[in-house]
Formats: sequence, C-alpha cells, structure tokens
Amino acid sequence: MWEKRKKPEKRKNIALIGFMGAGKSTIGTLLARRLGMRFVDLDEDISREAGMSIPEIFQREGEEGFRDRESRALREKLHGEGKVLACGGGIILRPENVDLLRERCTVIYLQAGRETILQRVGGGEGRPLLAAGDVAERVEELMARREEAYRRAAHVVVTTDERTPEEVVEEIERRCLGS
Ligand code: S3P
Repeated sequence: MWEKRKKPEKRKNIALIGFMGAGKSTIGTLLARRLGMRFVDLDEDISREAGMSIPEIFQREGEEGFRDRESRALREKLHGEGKVLACGGGIILRPENVDLLRERCTVIYLQAGRETILQRVGGGEGRPLLAAGDVAERVEELMARREEAYRRAAHVVVTTDERTPEEVVEEIERRCLGS
C-alpha cells in the first residue's frame, strides 16, 4: 500500500526546517521510511565529512566556518532527488540556502513552542549556540529572531507541540502528499 502513496511531484525532495529540538531528525527518519525515500541528516553529514563533532567545528572554525560547511553540504545533498533532509536550525540564516531549499524541496517548517523546545534541548548539550549563558534566554532570543525566517522559507507549517512523531508524519502526508 505504501508504494501507492504520492510523492511530491514538482519538487523532488522534502526538507524539514525548524528550531533546535523541533524534532527534524526523528520525524525525518520516520517520514523517509514511510515514503520509501532516503533520509539525510545534514548535521551528521557535515560532522562526518569534517571528522569533528558540531561543537568542535564551532570551536575551531567559528560559526562562519560551520555555516560555510552547512551551505556546501546542502548544495551537495540537493543534487539528487528522493531525499528527506533534516536541516540544522540555522539553515535559514543564509538567503542562498533558502532559495535552494525552496527550489528543490517541499519545505516543511516543524513549529514548536518555547516550552516544547526547552524540554527537548535540556541543558543544551551538543548545541554550541545554547552553550553560552542561560539556555532558556538563548532559546527565547534565537526563536524570536528566527521565527519569521522559518515561516517565510516554508511551503507548509506543521506544529509538533503535544503530538507524537507519528501524528506529525501523518499530517505531513495528508497535507503535502495528498494521501
Ligand atoms: C544550529 C542547530 C543545530 C546545528 C548547529 C547550529 C542552529 O542543529 O546545526 O548547532 O543554528 O540552530 P539542530 O537544529 O539539529 O539542533
């Protein structure tokens, strides 16, 4: 039965964007499995290619160095089709990334409120942008600064608050893929 599900027709990939802790990797993995598409976690690829963890890249190359790697990885991953891409939370910071995403993917913003995000990111471990200072303050500041950019980059907005990953995947299928 799954083979009959429609895949996105015009844009050949699906990209999940949203704040740290929005559930992009978990939902992306499930969605890809369900649609028979390939799952790509951009941060994992960046880290593997660099031979360093994300915090190490930030430490050695600064945020700009990481963003350069991120834009490069995005360009490379979007050559093909049939992929579900989980993007790092800051992918929308560079306009060229957004243009590329919108051209080659159905872009889905996984929206989550402050409380959900705070619960999911815990003490901010492994996330260098949350490492300096109070996690709740950093989350609030970055969310306020980025919210508009996520919405503008997205073709579809799906909320993940108080919902299981399975429920979110079902909504994505219903709204984006006509199943
Ligand atoms: C970042 C989010 C992280 C990672 C890096 C920067 C951001 O990915 O790319 O730490 O700027 O929001 P997740 O959204 O998967 O945590």
